[in-house]
Amino acid sequence: KAGEAKVMIEAHTLLKRFYHHLLVYTKEGQAALDYLQARGWTKETIDRFEIGYAPDAPDAAAKLLDSHSFSLPMLEKAGLVTKKEDGRYVDRFRNRIMFPILDHRGETVGFSGRLLGEGQPKYVNSPETPIFRKGMLLYHFHEARVPIRKRQEALLFEGFADVISAVQAGIDYAVATMGTSLTEEQARILRRHAETVTICYDGDNAGMEAAWRAAEQLSALGCRVKVASIPNGLDPDEYIRVYGKDRFVGEIAAAQPLMAFKMNHLRRGKNLQHEGDRLRYIEEVLREIGKLPSPVEKDYYVRQLADEFSLSLSALNEQLSRYKQETS
Ligand code: GTP
Ligand code: MN
Ligand code: MN
Ligand code: MN
Ligand code: MN
Repeated sequence: KAGEAKVMIEAHTLLKRFYHHLLVYTKEGQAALDYLQARGWTKETIDRFEIGYAPDAPDAAAKLLDSHSFSLPMLEKAGLVTKKEDGRYVDRFRNRIMFPILDHRGETVGFSGRLLGEGQPKYVNSPETPIFRKGMLLYHFHEARVPIRKRQEALLFEGFADVISAVQAGIDYAVATMGTSLTEEQARILRRHAETVTICYDGDNAGMEAAWRAAEQLSALGCRVKVASIPNGLDPDEYIRVYGKDRFVGEIAAAQPLMAFKMNHLRRGKNLQHEGDRLRYIEEVLREIGKLPSPVEKDYYVRQLADEFSLSLSALNEQLSRYKQETS
C-alpha cells in the first residue's frame, strides 16, 4: 500500500531529526557525540549523514511519534517499536548511535543503531519492512549515483562506516551493503550504473573471502572488477584514520584486476618453494583462468603462469582444456 509506505517514511524522517537533534544539541547525546568525534568524524560529516542518538529510555520514539498521531501498530510494522506482552509499545533502538538508511530516492526507510563502545550486538538494524529491504538497497547510493555514473566506477565497501570515512576524505563514489553479502539485485544496480566496480572490503580473512564472492557475482554480470586489499587486517575506515586520505586513495588506485587478486589470494598459506604447494597453486590458478570469458585474457594469464614457473605453454593449455571437459 503506497499510503502506508508514505506514512512510514514520514515517521522515519521525523525520528531521524529527533535523534540528530539529541545527538548534536543535548546533554543526553554528549557521550555519543564524543564517541563519534573520537572516531574522527567531523561535525560536518555528522550533519551530512544525519547521524543521531537514540536515548537510553524505553519509549522515547514511541511517545514522540504517538504524539504526532502516528499509529503504534503501523510503527511496529515499520520496525521502530515492538509491542510488549502487557500491550505497551517500546522502542527498538535505545542508547545507540543512529545511522539513518536512505533508499535510492533519498527517503529515510530504516536505521542502523550502533553501541557507543564494545559489546554485542554491535549494530541493530531495522527489520525487513515494506519500505526497508536490505538486499535491494546500497548505503549512500542516493548520493553516489551521479558520481558513479560520471566515473563509470563504483567503490564498494562492507560497512557503512567505511563509506562515511571515505566521503569525509573526499571520495564520493562509495556505497556499502547493509551487513549482508552482496545480493543479485545489488550487483545488478551496480552493473547498471558503472562499468567498473572496485571492491574494498575489510582487510581480514572474512573480508577477502567475501570480496572473492562479490567479485565473482559482479563479473558474471559483465562488470570489470578490481579488488583493493587493505593491509594489516584494517578496514577502510581504520586505514584512513591511521594512514590518512592520500595513502588510502593510493590503495584504491593500486586495486588489482580480479585475476591478480585471485592469484594473490590463492598464494596465501602456501609455500611456493615446496613442490606440492606449487603444483596445487598452478592447478588452482589454471582453473580460475579457465573461467575467463575472453580468450585473450586466458592467453595472457597462461603465459604469465608459464613464465613464472618455467612451464611449457602446451602443457598448460592441455590442462586447461581438460578442465573445460570436466565442467562441460
Ligand atoms: P565499526 O566497528 O563501527 O567501524 O563498524 P564496521 O563498519 O567496521 O563493521 P564490521 O566490519 O564489523 O561489519 C560490516 C557491516 O556488517 C556493518 O556495517 C553492519 O552493517 C554489519 N554488522 C556488523 N556487526 C553487526 C551486528 O552486530 N549486527 C548486525 N545486524 N549487523 C552487523
Ligand atoms: Mn569485518
Ligand atoms: Mn580462500
Ligand atoms: Mn569493518
Ligand atoms: Mn570499522
